[in-house]
Amino acid sequence: MTGTRTYGYTNTLDAGHYAKALRADIRGGLTSIPKSTAPTWFYDARGSELFEEITQLEEYPLWRAELGLFTLHAHDIAARTGARSLVELGSGSSTKTKLILEALGPNGLHYVPVDVSEDALHQASAQLVQDYPRLVLHALRADFTAPFVLPELPADSPRLIAFIGSTLGNFRRPARVPFLRELRDVMRPQDFLLLGADLVKDTEEMILAYDDGDGVTAAFDKNLLHVLNRELRADFDPDAFEHRAVWSEAEQHIEMRLRSRADQQVKIRELDLTVHFDRGEEWITERSAKFTTDGLRTELNAAGLHADQVWEDSGAGFCVVLATPRQGVLRK
Ligand code: SAH
Ligand code: AVI
Repeated sequence: MTGTRTYGYTNTLDAGHYAKALRADIRGGLTSIPKSTAPTWFYDARGSELFEEITQLEEYPLWRAELGLFTLHAHDIAARTGARSLVELGSGSSTKTKLILEALGPNGLHYVPVDVSEDALHQASAQLVQDYPRLVLHALRADFTAPFVLPELPADSPRLIAFIGSTLGNFRRPARVPFLRELRDVMRPQDFLLLGADLVKDTEEMILAYDDGDGVTAAFDKNLLHVLNRELRADFDPDAFEHRAVWSEAEQHIEMRLRSRADQQVKIRELDLTVHFDRGEEWITERSAKFTTDGLRTELNAAGLHADQVWEDSGAGFCVVLATPRQGVLRK
């Protein structure tokens, strides 16, 4: 660690782990019908930068809606939880989290940002330890869909686990409750879960949020092709694909898709695989579920959690939930 970087850093994704997970997902996803891959691979340095640009788009109001809810309620969150440590899954730039850190009081607070993006983690952490010199920060490069070990945290005070930005929506419905249950199983009775979730709204609005006029989201979607060209020695031509955003009423999610503009074969050398795309064939690169507050309460309940408080921005259609482990629910 260099000069000003006074934070801990653990990379649980050594090159082997990341490469193995990437290969397995891309092989499985591009040999399925329809083709469908995990959104985890968007976030190299460029992908994280493009996501930050998305957050500033007029068409993507959910990021600002959550920021607004934290501006209004961070002190209430701090008062209700009394947390002395904050673990954040998919922390990215940690921008909105600063409001929570400030409300909790960063003096002596432990903060564990968890992300796959090494660049996002280092950029955010270096800035945070400068802004809050007494914050105890330990960044963790980890895949939150797989088990990982947390750094040591104070045992005698409540912990807040934050999973914000509606990233829960990137899980498909059948995977959500098991994921939440795993979170619940590592929570102690005095701990809290802070969840941010985008709500179902006008279809056109939801689609525009994933297909903006400046093409930033299209560039984010196609960044996946650059990642695969680099990491798996593939020969995707980004111009041979077109970005699309589609609302699925049945699944209650937006699908980002890359549609092949032509019949084409793509070689993925590291997988020793040639993938055929028909002209017009669509590959699902991300699903972003939209919620109702009742639906969220039900999913939390099924996972052994109780939504103690729901703060809603009904204009923008976004909510933040503070949940606790339900008493009397047996742990595995
Ligand atoms: N929470 C932030 C960032 C959301 S973008 C916000 O609300 O602004 C989603 C973040 O999750 C990205 O930083 C991405 O790198 C990270 N991410 C995506 N899949 C992940 C995974 N499987 N494990 C850990 N981090 C992941
Ligand atoms: C991180 N995740 C919740 C974002 C979303 O809205 O699904 C990622 C994103 N994809 C396109 N725009 C933003």
